[in-house]
Amino acid sequence: MSRNLLVSLILVHGTFGAQPSAPAPKAAPLRELPWAQLNFLHTTDIHGWWGGHVQEASFSADWGDYISFAKHLRDRADAEGSDLLLIDTGDRIEGNAIYDSSKPRGKFTYEIAKKQNIDLICSGNHELYKAESADGEFLHTVPDFKGNYLASNLDIINPENGQRQPLAPRYKKFKTKNQGIRILAFGFIFDFTGNDNNTFVIPVEQTVKEAWFRDALKDKDIDLVLVYGHVDVRSAEYALLYKTIRSAQWDTPIQFFGGHSHIRDYKIFDSASVALESGRYMETIGFMSISGLRTASFDKSPAQQQKTKVSFSRRYIDNNLFSMHHHTDRNKTTFPTEHGLNVTSAIGDARESLGLGERYGCAPHDLWVSRRPYPHEESIFTWLDTQVLPQSIKPSEEDKKAIVITNTGGIRFDVFKGPFTKDTKFLVSPFTSGLRYIKDVPYKSASQLIKLLNNEGPILDAMRGGNTYLQPPEHVAAQYRPELYAAGQSQELSYAAHEQTPLLVGLKDELFPGYTTHDDAGKDGDDTIHSAIPFYQVPNCVQASIGFDTNDEEMPGVVDVMYNEFIEKWMLLGLGYLGENFTSDDTHSYADGKSFTNIMTDWVKEHWNVASEECP
Ligand SMILES: *[C@@H]1O[C@H](CO)[C@@H](O)[C@H](O)[C@H]1NC(C)=O
Ligand SMILES: *[C@@H]1O[C@H](CO)[C@@H](O)[C@H](O)[C@H]1NC(C)=O
Ligand SMILES: *[C@@H]1O[C@H](CO)[C@@H](O)[C@H](O)[C@H]1NC(C)=O
Ligand SMILES: *[C@@H]1O[C@H](CO)[C@@H](O)[C@H](O)[C@H]1NC(C)=O
Repeated sequence: MSRNLLVSLILVHGTFGAQPSAPAPKAAPLRELPWAQLNFLHTTDIHGWWGGHVQEASFSADWGDYISFAKHLRDRADAEGSDLLLIDTGDRIEGNAIYDSSKPRGKFTYEIAKKQNIDLICSGNHELYKAESADGEFLHTVPDFKGNYLASNLDIINPENGQRQPLAPRYKKFKTKNQGIRILAFGFIFDFTGNDNNTFVIPVEQTVKEAWFRDALKDKDIDLVLVYGHVDVRSAEYALLYKTIRSAQWDTPIQFFGGHSHIRDYKIFDSASVALESGRYMETIGFMSISGLRTASFDKSPAQQQKTKVSFSRRYIDNNLFSMHHHTDRNKTTFPTEHGLNVTSAIGDARESLGLGERYGCAPHDLWVSRRPYPHEESIFTWLDTQVLPQSIKPSEEDKKAIVITNTGGIRFDVFKGPFTKDTKFLVSPFTSGLRYIKDVPYKSASQLIKLLNNEGPILDAMRGGNTYLQPPEHVAAQYRPELYAAGQSQELSYAAHEQTPLLVGLKDELFPGYTTHDDAGKDGDDTIHSAIPFYQVPNCVQASIGFDTNDEEMPGVVDVMYNEFIEKWMLLGLGYLGENFTSDDTHSYADGKSFTNIMTDWVKEHWNVASEECP
């Protein structure tokens, strides 16, 4: 293709939004947005996917398109006298090359994020794993969203003066623009313990006892309590916040927004309190609306207020232009705003400057995190433990044998048949951690580790106690929501198939696979009507053997025990439980700390390299 043609294609496509290489969205039957008095758009766990999904039509809109979308809905609110608020509940970083391959790592992220007018924003746990990224919140995101960033239970060491202080204000009270609804808002993070030493997460149990919190809740001149946070909507933290707020405000509506577990979910606490969680990775834009709220202007007529009854509605919007055009009643010429297009093109420039299209190889078929059981030839974990690890990892000495254990949560996304690029590399494995090993562990103990890490027992209890999970977040969420596995028809959990909803009759043949959410309000939450995608359980950890086969007659006497450094604590604890006394002093860095991400990428270059211009 000539360079000129390429440029003009980009320009033509670019005029309509989305990234140049993203597929066009597919037409599908849609449910309308239940627009009302007070409306919300909610994003969470974006993990750097500002460019949307360039390999999946359902999620192919980008942050620039979201900016255009929000602008049209704000205009609608202004025209009708209703209100719209935008919320983001954290984990904006880590998980996509725009963040993870840039130097410094936040180079593009903060600039892109701040282009959207987010009304209420907070931190997730990923912002806090490393001191630099927590400082990035303090130095960039908090000032960029001044007055809109809340930190109800999060402190930081101010990098400028070394003093501990709240990362942002604990709460705020404000009035909506058009309706004058008086809102008391809090921004939380779950009881996270894996943060670096420059931040302090105050457990929710402690926060609810603090004077400022108790005092804030004494205010009677409020129409809505709004709790948003990087917190699973079915967590103990939100249950406690609900209970505490409800006991202080017995009839005030309470709206929660949650995140962290990467799923679509909606929980009903009581007739005046609900919680919405809006998925992950720019796949979902959560829509929430409330009607029947009191407003300050109605204060003087209590009779009128008694007639109104608060009601809530939710919708999970698939992040693509087909949905966005429909919900704003616009088309590809009237939808994009200049500001939105500018951001789309800035994201495109960032992606290009990082060389994300660089191809390392061609994946011969899809590899799935959850859509295939484990083990299975199309399970990404089977690919790891039968190919990548055994073909890449060498024991500490030539004639030794080893086992390698890695946690499934280190893998964040699927691999699709076709080009495996620099973009793919960071989507699948964004983390910088390498492998470590312990030499000469008796095999009779080493061979028991995987069971201890995966099945019930003291190690799993200790993980839960510390709020540590080794699986991908959506699988952690599924442990408490077994219905998520229903679509997977997995052998372990044989749930009755959900009955067909009447709406689907006759449409079934046209449907393509996507989210089919079942939450507390039923099965009509998704804006796009899809056929179901299977969702299978995955273990905490998978294991590969190096230099021997676990089916061999004769087993090695001792092996090197190798593992992803993220799970070192659990490996040592597990070995201790098996009677093997090792400490961190007995552990060694593998291959000078080469990251697992690079080990995987080198395997792809070696095994999937294809000379032809196009992947077969
Ligand atoms: C945090 O840990 C680093 C070493 O890992 C240390 O140099 C630093 O002083 C610690 N900071 C605080 C505030 O404890
Ligand atoms: C888009 O909508 C405008 C205004 O309704 C209309 O004039 C135009 O023809 C439409 N464009 C397309 C491509 O449908
Ligand atoms: C979009 O970008 C152009 C060129 O950089 C700039 O002149 C214009 O002001 C921007 N518009 C908006 C709305 O951001
Ligand atoms: C474990 O090893 C450490 C260091 O070698 C030693 O100090 C300790 O006494 C050992 N503990 C047990 C229970 O053997």
